[in-house]
Amino acid sequence: MKGRLSGVSRCVIRLPAWQRKAVSLAFSALWLSGVAWLLLHYYLATEGDFGPRPHWLEPWSLRLHGLLAMIVLTVLGSLVPVHMKLAWARARNRAGGLLMVAVCVWLVLTGYALWYFANEANQDWLSRLHWLCGLGLPLILAAHTPVSRRRMMARLGLNWSSAR
Ligand code: HEM
Ligand code: HEM
Repeated sequence: MKGRLSGVSRCVIRLPAWQRKAVSLAFSALWLSGVAWLLLHYYLATEGDFGPRPHWLEPWSLRLHGLLAMIVLTVLGSLVPVHMKLAWARARNRAGGLLMVAVCVWLVLTGYALWYFANEANQDWLSRLHWLCGLGLPLILAAHTPVSRRRMMARLGLNWSSAR
């Protein structure tokens, strides 16, 4: 009975297809919009009479990023009641889960600070605190996801031992 129950909870912790797709679509789109801003800002600005002139797509990439950030927050919220709660209660992958939550909280806080508190003095380092962590997000999510983790370990030639 005990084995059967843990089997059931394992299935429930594993995300249904729609939710797995929602996570990967929303996170990928958010990441791509952030990277688009970086490329536009650092490589595609032109020299104007009064200093660097931003590419016309730069503000649009940020508007898109803000919209996608809200969608990602909704998707994250949908993981709390079952995925996170149950995995936590069953003590499965707590370290990996905590890392995911910590990174997302960091991105939310630094994104919030960029939105409401950025000024000329802090914009540069605040921005870096945000996007340097954001760039690493896909790697952290891949390490958290058993299938991708198995693939990464195999590529590195390391032994795969099943996630707790
Ligand atoms: C930011 C929050 C989180 C995100 C975006 C996230 C996302 C994911 C995704 C996409 C998978 C792969 C699911 C599948 O292939 O069906 C997964 C697996 C897993 N996650 Fe999370 N997760 C989060 C937080 C947590 C937390 C807080 C815990 C633990 C307390 C946790 C524990 C697990 C476990 C145990 C698995 C493996 C499930 C299995 O295949 O047996 N996750 N997570
Ligand atoms: C939960 C995840 C995230 C949230 C809630 C979030 C939120 C935000 C917010 C609110 C802003 C400020 C927008 C503005 O000033 O108009 C921002 C800017 C930005 N974000 Fe994110 N973001 C997240 C993840 C990411 C990721 C994964 C990347 C990947 C590179 C990224 C890269 C950037 C960049 C480059 C900026 C522009 C920085 C600047 O204006 O100097 N973000 N983000």
